[in-house]
Amino acid sequence: MARDPILNFDGQVALITGAASGFGSLLARELGIRGARLVLGDINEPQLMALADELGNAGIDVRAACCDVSLESDCAELAASAEREFGQLDIAVNNAGIAPPMMSVEHTPEEEMDRQYSVNQKGVFFGMKHQLPLMKKRQSGIVLNVSSMAGLGGAPKVSSYAAAKHAVIGLTKTAAIENAKHGIRVNAICPFFTLTPMVTGIETPEGISASDFQAFLAAGCPMKRLAEPEEVVSAMLMLLSPKLTYVTGQALAVDGGVSA
Ligand code: NAI
Repeated sequence: MARDPILNFDGQVALITGAASGFGSLLARELGIRGARLVLGDINEPQLMALADELGNAGIDVRAACCDVSLESDCAELAASAEREFGQLDIAVNNAGIAPPMMSVEHTPEEEMDRQYSVNQKGVFFGMKHQLPLMKKRQSGIVLNVSSMAGLGGAPKVSSYAAAKHAVIGLTKTAAIENAKHGIRVNAICPFFTLTPMVTGIETPEGISASDFQAFLAAGCPMKRLAEPEEVVSAMLMLLSPKLTYVTGQALAVDGGVSA
């Protein structure tokens, strides 16, 4: 059966960081079954290799490597492996990220600010730094950076995360303008709380159960629920569509109406 052209990734080479879990693993599956060849990186090597085996067994052409996005050399090597293994890079999704402990600005230690900066901000910067030259060579490509609703507005008790995720949007918009003339689109996605392991495994404030905490978060959303991972990944696929040719430099909220 012919694939819907809007979500047809036949033959495209897609790199995803933070691919072992949550959005990354789901997106890898969705792109793979729609024809993409995959280059996957994550710091969690066993979980990444298990995913690569599963996708390989399903007939998807996949390469996977341990990659710590806070290290420029790892990001450089992951991008280079796309060119070495497949001869091109069409799609890059800078998705790897970490959650912060919950604390107010005045209680946030410098080390936590640095940790967020290293992974959530510099991970995206190092990624694009080594992905964009490969795309420029072919004058074509799509980058999607994973920010957050915490990148669009204040986020009480997670200032280090919010600061890094705001920076992701600044990087995205700047790279979009710099690279539009090279046929490269760069966008960001900004999800509200989503039921991936990052949120289901969240350390809740003392005395509050995980389900009560999730209900508290959901109460702040007009849809009165958190997002399912599939709902965010659908928006990611849309932003990566080869048919979305005139959309660049955008930060798309996927938030059940929180920002409406
Ligand atoms: P997750 O925890 O399920 O997946 C994150 C993945 O990133 C894990 O596989 C982890 O091993 C990997 N990772 C962590 N540090 C890394 C590093 N230094 N180098 C390479 N890989 C690393 O979480 P989820 O929810 O799938 O998160 C993906 C992205 O979505 C993150 O950037 C997160 O900040 C963002 N996000 C998540 C939201 C949510 O509610 N789940 C909401 C808004 C944004």
